[in-house]
Amino acid sequence: MLHVLQHPLAAHIITHLRDETTKPATFRTLAYQVGLLLAVEATRDLATKDKVIRTPLEPHTGRVLAKPLVVVPILRAGLGMVQPFLDIFPDVSVGYIGLERDHETAVARSYYCKLPPLAGTRVVVVDPMLATGGSAAQALTVVKQAGAKDLVFVSIVASPEGVAAVQAKHPDVPLYTAAHDRELNTKKYILPGLGDFGDRLYGT
Ligand code: PRP
Ligand code: URA
Repeated sequence: MLHVLQHPLAAHIITHLRDETTKPATFRTLAYQVGLLLAVEATRDLATKDKVIRTPLEPHTGRVLAKPLVVVPILRAGLGMVQPFLDIFPDVSVGYIGLERDHETAVARSYYCKLPPLAGTRVVVVDPMLATGGSAAQALTVVKQAGAKDLVFVSIVASPEGVAAVQAKHPDVPLYTAAHDRELNTKKYILPGLGDFGDRLYGT
């Protein structure tokens, strides 16, 4: 299932992220802002449980989150989407998966993996760019092998080819994105896209 974020603010932010004149400092702020909107959207269905408290006036049975969250960025660009999750979720830990696309083949190579316990958690794998889908599919396989049962994938920009590839390999994993773009170019970059997210985030 693909969920495309529908919010005027998301459209506004994405347009500025795409703009080639946007400098890294502003780019990082915009990535944080759209990350917040996506963090809310991708956790809309989280389970809650009863919690009995007292208001200043009377006892009250409220609802609180039933399970902790684990956010797993795909290094390096995924790091730009972690802070929104840390800022709004009370019980959250972070795992890391390092993948890098070969510039010629666009095939992702794994160079790092460190994950906290995943059983009993909601795992949110984040990577701003879903291009061929190779990195996302590989990362989802890794977190499933590590015990994740309840997981979602969140991107900022996704290509139709990438969405189809991930859905073919992981039909059980809901996908969230802020923009569903037109296509990949011959070098497997997303069009209209925003270029290399990691380079624009870190000024490299
Ligand atoms: C980019 C991006 C994704 C991947 C998407 O990372 O952040 O991880 O490409 O492409 P795919 O869907 O075709 O696999 P990159 O490999 O450039 O590494 P970086 O984050 O270190 O810049
Ligand atoms: N990675 C990026 O950063 N951008 C793309 O368009 C494709 C992969």
